Order: sequence, then structure tokens, then C-alpha cells
Amino acid sequence: MGRAFTRREFIKYGTLGLGTLAAAGGGLYTVVSGAGTAHADDLPRTPFRFTPFSVDLPIPPNVQPVTTPFAAECTMRTDVGAPKFYGITMEEAVTQIIPGVDTRIWGYNGLYPGPTFRVKHGEPAVVRFTNHLANVHFGKAQLEVHTLVHNHGGHQSSESDGSPVDPAREIHPHDFKDFCYPNMAPINPLTGKQETSDFASTQWYHDHFMDETGRNVYMGLAGFYLLADELEQGLVANGKLPAEARDIPLVIQDKVFASDGSLLFQPGEFDGVLGDVYVVNGKARPRFHVDRRKYRFRILNGADARWLELRLSSGAFLQIGNDSWLLPYAIPRTSIRLAPAERADVILDFRDAPAEVFLSNVLEQTDGRGPDEVKLPGTSILKFIVGANRQADDKIVGPGGQLRPHIAISSTEIVRTRRFEFDRGDGHWVINERDFDPNRDDATPKINTAERWILKNGGGGWAHPIHIHLEAHQVQRFNGRVPPLHNSFKKDTTALGPDDEAEVFIKFRTFTGKYVFHCHNLQHEDRAMMGVFEVKP
Ligand code: C2O
Ligand code: CU
Repeated sequence: MGRAFTRREFIKYGTLGLGTLAAAGGGLYTVVSGAGTAHADDLPRTPFRFTPFSVDLPIPPNVQPVTTPFAAECTMRTDVGAPKFYGITMEEAVTQIIPGVDTRIWGYNGLYPGPTFRVKHGEPAVVRFTNHLANVHFGKAQLEVHTLVHNHGGHQSSESDGSPVDPAREIHPHDFKDFCYPNMAPINPLTGKQETSDFASTQWYHDHFMDETGRNVYMGLAGFYLLADELEQGLVANGKLPAEARDIPLVIQDKVFASDGSLLFQPGEFDGVLGDVYVVNGKARPRFHVDRRKYRFRILNGADARWLELRLSSGAFLQIGNDSWLLPYAIPRTSIRLAPAERADVILDFRDAPAEVFLSNVLEQTDGRGPDEVKLPGTSILKFIVGANRQADDKIVGPGGQLRPHIAISSTEIVRTRRFEFDRGDGHWVINERDFDPNRDDATPKINTAERWILKNGGGGWAHPIHIHLEAHQVQRFNGRVPPLHNSFKKDTTALGPDDEAEVFIKFRTFTGKYVFHCHNLQHEDRAMMGVFEVKP
């Protein structure tokens, strides 16, 4: 079947990619200074120079519901409220990521990053995703792009999850599929009610087509999906959290460009694709004018393989959320490390800041395997230009400020332990020595039970950020020790460096059916480092 054929393609790509890299190293690309990242000599280089911080940070527009509902072709729960209906098209478009350089992207509504969903509890969303990516440009080639959309961090039915387990959910060119997002918290089986403590805030939606996720995300198919329930709306209404005008999503990615301005994606890059230009919300190293007050930033590492360790030139972060969920209380951080797919929801206080503040990545990384050392001062990727008038913002949460209560999964609830080891296989990446097979269940947890999962990086020098769909997991131990405070609550992606081992608890609620867990280094994911779990009745 098509599946098996696609799965073998990487062998072909592998050879092709090596050729491309060798040619690039041979001098097709001129070395650019100021592009931004530490870059190994054998990787292609972006042949454009530009002045950093010369263009404004774009804020993706909010998605608006359509005025006329359509007949949903997905199944929405009836206990979550009356749905709103949305339409998103996937389109090729030309934009300028580097100032003055035209670049083709594939975007939701033709935008890179995609438009932002801002949805509420009690207002589920039916989204019709239509694929217009027929005959689009990809380097020198023309392609038909097959897609699938995953709402990352979402608590949704298997049918609408975008897990690549059912070919019938794929969205082929000229076709559309509907996805039903209930915008709910998991249901506590004892009360029959939704568990407010597990309601998510910061999800992101991105392509998840089997074997091609890395390419499709790299080309632009990613956007934010932000949720607010009554608790979070209350925090905003009481002035504890900034309102929407100062609640800014930031997706950080690294890209490399060909001499014709196109995004250069090297599918042969087995370890993971790196770029040499930092891009924030679709612009290379932009600037952002802020008032002298507090802001909320939802920072997403949307890179293929690059890890980030973020620092500010002045001041510190106050972390209020980790991955999809608000923390129980705000935690001050001087630096924040984010593996691909991880998110940090932070408050930045510009009241007493200097006129310019830089957000920098201080983590060196020279290939897709994973990060090297922290090296100061690092590379600045976003410049905040701070206005003159100091504003009070007295009520916004400070360190320790209460946010979303957390309910810990107790060890007495654990009904079984599963162990997953993530390793390099022969020409691909494996979990417990096996390739991804959408037709094989690697775990069959029973609904309304909790399990202990041991996530083990088998070593060899590679890093693996492990993402589990459907539910948050709670890290109990990391390398045998209590995890750092900010990682001790809910996560949807746990970053494993070489040889790291995480023990996590996870409870399966509300939905039965098939979902996936996988490495979020997208080259590892696309080359089989993915497993299926089927929640059983
Ligand atoms: Cu962000 Cu299964 O993905
Ligand atoms: Cu990996």
C-alpha cells in the first residue's frame, strides 16, 4: 500500500540529501554573517544579508467564525455547547521572511504562521480545513501536498485529533475534512464533570501528515490555538493576566534559504533540519514596540530540530504556563529551555526596562542531533523597543501568583507501567526497536485509568522531545530525581537529552480510540519514531 511505499522513501531521500549537502559545502552558498545561528560548516547557508530588527513582529490575525454554519462531517459531543464554525484553507503564498526577499510558503489561509484561533470553553469549534496545495512549488519541484491537521495539546476525539492512524482523515489536494474541537477539559469519571484543573490554554495546530510532517511544518503549516475557560477569563477580567492586546503569541523557528529565496528543506538531513536564520512569527529577527508595562507572551518552539534556551538582555521571565496548561502559580525563570514543540507562557515586565531589550537564544547547536552548550551572550532573535510612559499594571500576577489549581495523579491510581525506549534504528528511528505502524497498537490503556510511562532515551548522542497526544502527562522523576518545579505539573512534550529517562503519570479520559505519541524532532517523527496507543472502553 501507499503507506509502505512512503515509509521506504526516506532511504531514497537520504542519498539525495547527502548530494545536496556536499554541493552546498562546495561553495554554492556564500557565507552570511549576522544571519543568526551557529552553523556547522557542512550545512547550507542562507546567501542573503539583512539588517536584523528592521521589520516589525507580525501578530497573526484571529480566525473569525463563518456566518453560515455548515453540516459538520465530524462528530461533536453534544454536552459541550453550541459549536462555532470556521473555514481554513491551505494555500501557497509569497511573503517576505527576510526583508526584501520573496519566499514561497504554504500557509493556513495562505499565512505563515497561520491565523490564531481564540476559542472559549462552552463554544466548541468545527473547523473545515480545505487543501489547496495542488501543484505547488517546492524548491525547483512542483508537488501535490497531502496534509492532516493536529491540534497539539488538544483533548479531542480520535477522529478529530489528526493522529496519522486513519488514512480516511487525510486531506488531499482539492479536498477538505472537518475537525471537531470540543474545547473542553477531560471528564472526571467520578463526578461526570469536566476537570477544570486540566483545561488547556496554549495549543498549536500544525500539519501531521505521515512521513511529511517536518516538510509541511517547515514550509509554514503551523498556527496557534488559544483557549480560555471561565477561570482564565476571570484572571483576565480581574487584571491578573494581560488582556488580548498584550497577549502575544510568538513562534520561533529556524530556516535556511536558497539563492532564489525559497525555503531550503533538506529531507536527507536524517538527524533533524537546522536553519541559519531565526524567524519569529514569520519574520527574520524582527522588532516589537512595547509599552512600559507587563505583557504575556506564549512562546512556542516551532522548529524542526533546533532547541532553544531563551534569555533576556535585561530582566527575567515569569513563567505562568508550561506547554498547553497554566501553572498552579507563577514561577520566575532567568532562562527557559524549549525543545521542539515545547511552549512557555510568560509574563515580561517592561515597566523599568531599558529602552531596548533583546530576547536571545544562548544554546549552541550545530546539527540536528540536539543542543550543545549554553554560550553567552548567544544570538538575539527579537528586539523589544520599550516606550516612554510607565504604566502601573499593579494587579498582574507576580512570582507565586495563583493561576490554575493542579490536581496531581496519585501513585495509588496507577494500574500499569509501560516502558518506551527511543533509539536510533538502522536508517530510521525506533521506539522499543520498532518502526511506527499505524495498524499496530503499542499500548492499550483502559479509559479512566492512569498509567506510569517510562520514557527512556536509549542514548547515542541524540535528543528526543517526546510528545503524547490527548492528555497531559505529569513528570514524577527525571533521571531518578524530582523534576525542576516548572516541569512538575502538566506537560504534553517531555524533552529527553541523550540517555535521559522520565517517569510520567498519565490518565486517559473522555475518549476511546487511537492516538499517537512520538518524538517531536520532526525528522525523527517522519522516520518512524512514533507509536500508537488505543484507549479502550
Ligand atoms: Cu505537535 Cu503529534 O504533534
Ligand atoms: Cu527524536
